[in-house]
Amino acid sequence: MNDIAAALGQRIEARSSRVGVIGLGYVGLPLAVAFAEAGFPVIGVDADADRIGRLGRGSSPVEDVPDHRLAPLVRGKRLVVTGSIEALGEADAILICVPTPLSKSKEPDITAHPEFDAGRLVQQARLVLDTRNLTGGLGPHPHVIRL
Ligand SMILES: NC(=O)c1ccc[n+]([C@@H]2O[C@H](COP(=O)([O-])OP(=O)(O)OC[C@H]3O[C@@H](n4cnc5c(N)ncnc54)[C@H](O)[C@@H]3O)[C@@H](O)[C@H]2O)c1
Repeated sequence: MNDIAAALGQRIEARSSRVGVIGLGYVGLPLAVAFAEAGFPVIGVDADADRIGRLGRGSSPVEDVPDHRLAPLVRGKRLVVTGSIEALGEADAILICVPTPLSKSKEPDITAHPEFDAGRLVQQARLVLDTRNLTGGLGPHPHVIRL
């Protein structure tokens, strides 16, 4: 294990590693809440300003996440929701949970969001997990895990 991985492991053990989630929908919001409830500082980013406003008031748009779980996390700033991708600057791990559009041939098109190219994001995070629909397997970067 290299030094970076060892340091990340220690921060994860201590619940001090920062988790960033991009896309606070059916996949991203429950993940963000689960990490925050587990004690990690979480930054959630979404492009939908109405959704960010609603989440900021502790009101959940996702049935799996009741308000009584979300609201205290947001109030206590254990889950910070924002429209700004820049907020992920200090994230140790980033989970990409944006929609996967289909290409003309009905294949998942993960090039649709070049700003979330995992190879670029990994330069600012130690670990990137990509939930977008893929055929599986590891990505081209050793710190990128395709789910
Ligand atoms: N829902 C599932 O059961 C499931 C299962 C496996 C994989 N996936 C994959 O996970 C991903 C997310 O699925 P979902 O069901 O949560 O989608 P969703 O539509 O419920 O949520 C996506 C969220 O991403 C936000 N978003 C869109 N573009 C954005 C951008 N450029 N920047 C920041 N936020 C943006 C949307 O506003 C929305 O809140 C998809 O790629 C999907 O294929 C979903």
